[in-house]
Amino acid sequence: MKEVRVGICGLGTVGGGTYNVLTRNAELIAGRAGSPIRISRVASRRRRDDIDLGDIPFSNDIFEITKAEDVDIVVELIGGYDVARELVLTAIENGKHVVTANKALIAVHGNEIFEAAAKRGVIVAYEAGVAGGIPVIKAVREGMAGNRIDWIAGIINGTGNYILTEMRAGRAFDEVLREAQDKGYAEADPTFDVEGIDAAHKLTILASAGFGVPLQFERAYTEGISRITPYDIAHAELLGYRIKHLGIARRRENGIELRVHPTLVPQSHLIAQVDGVLNAVLVDGDAVGQTMYYGPGAGDEATASAVIADIVDVARSVAAESQQRVPYLGFEPSALENLDVLPMEDIQSAYYLRIQALDRPGVLAKVASVLSEHGINIESIMQKESELEEGKIPVIILTHTVQERQINRAIEELEALSDIQEKVVRIRAENFN
Ligand code: HSE
Repeated sequence: MKEVRVGICGLGTVGGGTYNVLTRNAELIAGRAGSPIRISRVASRRRRDDIDLGDIPFSNDIFEITKAEDVDIVVELIGGYDVARELVLTAIENGKHVVTANKALIAVHGNEIFEAAAKRGVIVAYEAGVAGGIPVIKAVREGMAGNRIDWIAGIINGTGNYILTEMRAGRAFDEVLREAQDKGYAEADPTFDVEGIDAAHKLTILASAGFGVPLQFERAYTEGISRITPYDIAHAELLGYRIKHLGIARRRENGIELRVHPTLVPQSHLIAQVDGVLNAVLVDGDAVGQTMYYGPGAGDEATASAVIADIVDVARSVAAESQQRVPYLGFEPSALENLDVLPMEDIQSAYYLRIQALDRPGVLAKVASVLSEHGINIESIMQKESELEEGKIPVIILTHTVQERQINRAIEELEALSDIQEKVVRIRAENFN
């Protein structure tokens, strides 16, 4: 039986997890892959004392792996954009298959990488880049191959979800972020987690695999969780909603919506129950309806689980001496559609508005009239006398689904009213219809 040789680049959280699981479960993985999988080389900027590499050659030069004769699959676990791009393109040029957990790399350079890989006839697999250990790329590319996918929505950053969950329990943002970093969930630069960039990388990939469109990360809208206050979390709860940091991609006739932002979701929906570092992705297909994929979205062995599933997939193809088994984005390149990402003003959403109004007669009527002039239907409205402070009282409104353009114009008019002296807080809401 021909063995398949793997070179691991990067021995950080995911690299260490991959090494440990591949070693621990070697026999059962070989049974599934149909060939033994041998780690023939490891390279990383620094060696780890807690990992016993035995007699596996180790180098500080990750590029050695891309050239080594005894490597069939280069496993890229260094993260980042530029060096990773060079590493992967060099590996492809040298005829190596690639498995990566690097969502930033695929979201930003994926079109170029897939083209290079197709020319060279090698596989580039990236399951571990999206939602950690959850096999959602496999679900979208293969399990839902018979469906027209209409929308995808998910909690796809574990760190952000962990922070929002703990904030709901009354803990402070900074303290929880530090804890997520200590647990190895956060990106090297945690603003990627907190400001939605990491989630936008993952959403970009999901949308392309789901809708069959080229990767367009630069057009994704990202809004982070750093401005979410305990007040809004509590008031969303009173309205029957929970605030989650969601990535939402929707296929529309003239383009796609691609956006990451805090979102009110109904407490009664399963996704509202997804707490801590866990991730969940909802995928709506015209044949199957709504499906949800749930599990650990970050962490060493959870992510290693997805890395190894890709290694097994590639190993089967190597053993069968076959070409790419599944197209990179699940669609043949000639079947990709050039649908552009729509501007945010064209998206459709419901909205939570918090309006700090002066406590005067007729204020509510004026607010309602501005909303109605812009065709915005109110779903619920809440104002509590007990929250009156220095003559001002918050009015909380939940709207029906409208176009973002309508809300923007209405907010401009509301902020121009003499009864409203502060910026209106606006959080999008989603009912998953
Ligand atoms: N920083 C990422 C997260 C790691 O928190 O989800 C997994 O991609």
